[in-house]
Amino acid sequence: MIPKHVAIIMDGNGRWARMRGKERVYGHYEGTESVRACSEFAVEAGIQYLSLFAFSEENWARPEAEVAELMHLMAKSILNERPTFRKNNIRFLVIGNRSRLSEALNRDIDEAMEETAGNTGLTLIVFLSYSGRWDIEQAAERFAAAGAPQGRFSDFLATSGIPDPDLLIRTSGEKRISNFLLWQCAYTEFYFTPAFWPDFRKTEFRQALDDFASRQRRFGKTGEQI
Ligand code: IPE
Ligand code: IPE
Ligand code: MG
Repeated sequence: MIPKHVAIIMDGNGRWARMRGKERVYGHYEGTESVRACSEFAVEAGIQYLSLFAFSEENWARPEAEVAELMHLMAKSILNERPTFRKNNIRFLVIGNRSRLSEALNRDIDEAMEETAGNTGLTLIVFLSYSGRWDIEQAAERFAAAGAPQGRFSDFLATSGIPDPDLLIRTSGEKRISNFLLWQCAYTEFYFTPAFWPDFRKTEFRQALDDFASRQRRFGKTGEQI
């Protein structure tokens, strides 16, 4: 079965570059090629939602120059990818604590989101300045303000309306969730690969999907009930 929603923690750009004796930022640039390849593959494979963890709330603590490069790269990628979104019928979303992003970047994001809002193919979600705990906290505040219990708690999460991920992939050999979709990953299947993100392309993505297809999801029931 093809997962409806795949989430990816795109990790290992810095190490990929360092192994080649280059600056970490070089890995981030190369990583954008993997983003392109993986979104193309998601369209081909019929995945409906692709969530990409691009920058965490904790990543703000990195050296200023690296943060600036990452933000610059983000703006550049959004601009470059807009024709591809149009061509491939991709709906583009950004989720995260956007109050920490620059005005210019927020404007670029809004434009790309508005332009693609009516697209009906793949929903590509970039998580920027996101953390799972931030999401749960902001949802709790709004839930309480709305006079709970009104609606479901998950309706207040930043991912409201988006189904929970079926498969979470993390590259670079680390086996942790690093504050990504904490609430949403309650029953998600995890796939860890040693490949660094710049080396994760269509072949590696296909392998992850094959692995996912071999699993039995039980959601608390017994194997016989499935
Ligand atoms: C992932 O690669 C990109 C971001 C977290 C922004 P890293 O920059 O974390 O690369 P490593 O893990 O240090 O190799
Ligand atoms: C997770 O990678 C965040 C993103 C990929 C955006 P990190 O490199 O920040 O995670 P840790 O620090 O190794 O847990
Ligand atoms: Mg990392």
